[in-house]
Amino acid sequence: MNSPARTLMVGLGARGKKWARIMHEEQKSQTVGYVDLDDDNLEWAQTMYEADPKNCYNDMGQALKDLQPDFVVLATPPMDRYENVMKVFESGAHLLSEKPLSLDFDEGIRMAKAAEDAKLGFAVGLNFRWQHCILKAREILRSRRIGAPRFAGYSYWRNRDGYAPFLNRFPLTMRQPMLYEQVIHHIDSIRFVYDSEVERVTCRCSNPPWSMYRDDATTIAIFDMTAGLQVNYFGTWSGQTKLDQFLWRTDCDDGALFQYELFKDLRIIRGSENDVMEKIPLPEQEQLVDDARVMVSEILDQLAEGNLHPEPTAIDHLKTFGIIAACEESNNTGLPVEMDEFFDRHGMPSHWR
Ligand SMILES: NC(=O)c1ccc[n+]([C@@H]2O[C@H](COP(=O)([O-])OP(=O)(O)OC[C@H]3O[C@@H](n4cnc5c(N)ncnc54)[C@H](O)[C@@H]3O)[C@@H](O)[C@H]2O)c1
Repeated sequence: MNSPARTLMVGLGARGKKWARIMHEEQKSQTVGYVDLDDDNLEWAQTMYEADPKNCYNDMGQALKDLQPDFVVLATPPMDRYENVMKVFESGAHLLSEKPLSLDFDEGIRMAKAAEDAKLGFAVGLNFRWQHCILKAREILRSRRIGAPRFAGYSYWRNRDGYAPFLNRFPLTMRQPMLYEQVIHHIDSIRFVYDSEVERVTCRCSNPPWSMYRDDATTIAIFDMTAGLQVNYFGTWSGQTKLDQFLWRTDCDDGALFQYELFKDLRIIRGSENDVMEKIPLPEQEQLVDDARVMVSEILDQLAEGNLHPEPTAIDHLKTFGIIAACEESNNTGLPVEMDEFFDRHGMPSHWR
């Protein structure tokens, strides 16, 4: 791989514009081209980052052929991800794809296998893992300072305006938008912070009459995790009223941990006889940018060292993606889903679990 890595940006919508900035500022990368179906977005790259019009494309396949990048950042909607990911690996480039990998779990497995066969690095953008509050919560729970986590409640109420000018439009009409676009970040954070895997999923999805989303905007789930940990999950994009609320509380053997806002505000109570909350000081972060910045910098370091499984790996993402697909299945059947059985049924190799 060249140093700096020759990077192709694919998809310059709401998320891709953030990625364009991050990659423009990242010293280990040099953006060699931009791809989007919409010419306005390519003109934006020319205005913002002095992109040469001859390196701006509507067709990713042509851009890959002409520019021969080392690294691709793929920030397109998940519906056509499979085709795009396969083309990137055929071209010989390493890939950082946005989540979710697809809306079809079997396609996800095939994409991860394609990267293995091509001996190319494949990471998925689970940038929430690099938020200060997430890293700190993981560190506290791993240290067992307040003992082991036993049960938790994760509660996310949002009134998300899917027509807001700075947001994407595809979640308004896609299948299970809340699960595949939002809960996927939450369950990935849950797995990461607890260092624990989900063994059984029970899930119900619904859509309130006032929802602007065509399919379910609300998810209620129970996650039975390793070591007997139970997580009670509630998430909605269609909260009534404009009041958003967030609380992630984890009760441990000798205290409890609380996150009061989605991206910040971590608090702790030490001991079981105490009701005094201590706020844990954490540095400020630009939401969804500074976390991604550290993530991609580490991915480029790992690729430069020849590590073809840069964190967060696509293979690891399959475990989060599988839980989301199992949530959808549980909602459809009304039954719990055992994750081992789910992974067996989908042919997920045992050494990937
Ligand atoms: N990790 C995060 O924090 C985070 C935040 C927001 C969105 N996302 C993810 O990023 C992805 C993109 O979301 P978005 O909000 O930018 O959506 P968006 O609809 O705003 O933008 C998608 C862009 O991709 C372009 N596009 C579509 N197909 C293409 C193709 N084949 N070739 C080139 N360009 C193509 C579209 O023209 C559009 O400009 C989604 O998977 C979403 O889940 C992640």
